[in-house]
Formats: sequence, C-alpha cells, structure tokens
Amino acid sequence: MNHSQGMLRDGALAGKTIIVTGGGTGLGKSMSRYFLELGAHVVICSRRLGVLEEAARELEAATAGQVLPVECDVRNPQQIEQVLEQAIARFGQVDGLVNNSAGNFISPTERLSYKAVDVVVDIVLRGTYYFTLALGKYWIENKIKGTVLNISTTYAWTGSGWVVPSAMAKAGVLTMTKSLAFEWAKYGIRLNAVAPGPFPTKGAWDRLFPEELTEKFAFENRIPLHRVGDHQELANLAAYLMSDFSGYVTGEVITIDGGEVLGGGQFNFLHEVTDEQWDTIGEQIKQANRASKKEGSSDQPSA
Ligand code: HXC
Ligand code: NAP
Repeated sequence: MNHSQGMLRDGALAGKTIIVTGGGTGLGKSMSRYFLELGAHVVICSRRLGVLEEAARELEAATAGQVLPVECDVRNPQQIEQVLEQAIARFGQVDGLVNNSAGNFISPTERLSYKAVDVVVDIVLRGTYYFTLALGKYWIENKIKGTVLNISTTYAWTGSGWVVPSAMAKAGVLTMTKSLAFEWAKYGIRLNAVAPGPFPTKGAWDRLFPEELTEKFAFENRIPLHRVGDHQELANLAAYLMSDFSGYVTGEVITIDGGEVLGGGQFNFLHEVTDEQWDTIGEQIKQANRASKKEGSSDQPSA
C-alpha cells in the first residue's frame, strides 16, 4: 500500500452524483476519475466544452463510469442553473459539488489592472458562492443532504504576495465554507474544504511556477516531506470528504501540503545548523544555564 493508490472501498460513492467544476483538467479531472472508480456519476463543467468532452471520453473509458460534460462559466448563474438542470435530467438528482474551478497567476500586484483582480476573484470567490447557492437552494427545497467540497489553498490562511487576488478569494472561500457549514447543518448539508500544497498540473505550473524560476521553487528542498503531492492523495481525501464516511465532519479545512505551510515557524531556519554546531550551541546554552543559577549574574543577553 502506498499514497498513489485508492484508499476507499469499492462502491464508496455508489448512487451519488457529483458535480466537479473545472473537472476537465488537472486536479478536478483526477478527483473525478476516483469518484467514478468509487461508483459515482460525475458532471464536469468549465468554459471549454471541447476539453470537457475529451476528458469525459477518457474518464468513461478508464473507469466504466458515466460522465456528463457541460459548458459553464462559474461566473454566470444562468449557466450554473443549466448545469444543475442537465445533471438532474441525466442522473435523477445531484448529491455533491466540488468547487474546484480557479483562475490564478503570479504577478507583482502593482502591475495588475483592475480587470485582472476582478477576473480571479470572480472565478474563485463569486463562482464558488454562485454554485454553492444554486445547489443549496435545490438541496433545501428537495430535502437532499448534499455535500460541498471547496478547493482552497494554504495561503488562504497565511496570505501570500504575488498572488494577492487569489489569496483574497481563497480566504473568502474558507470563510464561506465555515459560515454555511453552520447555517445549513440543520438541513444536513455539509461543507468542507481542502488546502493543497503543490500538486503538479499544467494549469498551475504554466501560471505559477514558470521554468525560469524552477530553482527558486525547489520543492524537494522547501517542503518538509521533500516532494510534491500525488494527485491520488488529494483524490483520496476528496473522496472521503464527499462520502458518507465523513458524515460527522463539516466546516473543516484539511491541509495536504507535505508540511509546506509550517515553513513560517520562527525557528525553522535552524534546519541548516550542522551536528557539530549543535554540539557547540548545546554546550553554550548549558553553560549559560549554570551561570544564571549563580547569584549576581548579568540580566543582559550575552550576544
Ligand atoms: C498580469 C494578467 C496576467 C499576468 C492575465 N492578466 N494574466 N495580468 N500578469 N500574468 C490580466 C489580463 O491582462 C486582463 O486584464 C485580465 O487579467 C483578464 O485576462 P484574460 O486573459 O482576458 O482573462 P481570461 O481569458 O478569462 O483568463 C482568466 C485567467 C487565466 C485567470 C487570467 O489565467 C485562466 O484562464 N486561468 C484558468 C486556469 C488557472 O488559472 N489555473 C491555475 C489554478 S492553480 P486587462 O485589464 O489587461 O484586460 C491555483 C493554485 C494555487 O490556483 C496554489 C499553488 C500551490
Ligand atoms: P487547472 O487544471 O488549471 O484547473 C482550473 C480549472 O478551472 C480548469 O479546468 C478551468 O477550465 C476551470 N476554470 C477556470 N475558469 C473558469 C470559469 N470561469 N468557469 C468555469 N471553470 C473555470 O489547475 P489545477 O491545478 O488542477 O487547480 C484546480 C484547483 O486546485 C484550483 O481551485 C486551484 O486553486 C487548486 N489548487 C491547486 C494547486 C496545485 O498545486 N495544482 C494547489 C493549491 C490549490 P476552463 O479553462 O475550461 O474553464
């Protein structure tokens, strides 16, 4: 057994229909694939119908599941309602929603036009809210105990320069997750989020980790567990959160990043200290301890 294998038992999502926004590429496609393997019907939607149709063919061939591709810009509520209508017409009802669509790119903030901020915030925050609202209204009216999974980021907590619109929007998504998890718990609707670290995808790598900066990113050095994420690891977590096995989990955000976000710990730079230096430092600290026990020792720092 290892992290690149499926985790849940066969049929764990049988009888469920799950909408995955941005399900034609990257992490959305990988999550969709695993949901299908576990018995779910999957609806994938995004702006590029050709990409969705190609992905649907590939996923159906690989899993023997059923995939409905629907063109939809998550910034457009009418198109979202059409996705829902088509999903119900094809599969009977919808049980789950994964808000995975996103827009993002690195840039000094002072270089951004007003439109550049709008485009990212509208896709990530407004789109996630619109889709969740559409599903929430439908679930409440039809007494369906639906489940939402929002794909956030670790910098939604910490903030991050050079991706400010995305950080603002993803932070809003987390707040929405927690707020609605409480408000809609009375309907049996659950909302959770995941905060992934780096998982290689073309969409993210083209816009966030350009080749000329490869050395600066050096994930294997920067990430405490010395590697990037494997898509199946994220799919395992997502499937658990979409399944009834997580029925008592709501309003939660699970970080899956190999420890990357912990890098801001105040003393974490000490990983560069050698064993020999630790010997010396340890001796110095013990000496200082002994000295401080003696009366009349100075109260000033020694260096
Ligand atoms: C500055 C930029 C820019 C850049 C776009 N813009 N790219 N400004 N630097 N690199 C500006 C444009 O000039 C324009 O403003 C405005 O943004 C809209 O750009 P368009 O290209 O017209 O928009 P559109 O075609 O709708 O594309 C949306 C997009 C694009 C968000 C800009 O990147 C996209 O389609 N992304 C979808 C996929 C994606 O981003 N995947 C990555 C997710 S990864 P003006 O004023 O000039 O007209 C992720 C991971 C995070 O989120 C964590 C990683 C560890
Ligand atoms: P990706 O392949 O580029 O996925 C983004 C998806 O969003 C695409 O399928 C895109 O499809 C869709 N999309 C963009 N704008 C849209 C719009 N207006 N309406 C509908 N769909 C839209 O990148 P990814 O890496 O897999 O990212 C997936 C999710 O994981 C995102 O939420 C991202 O923030 C998150 N994430 C990724 C990483 C990582 O390391 N990869 C880390 C942390 C978080 P169209 O272009 O066809 O619309």
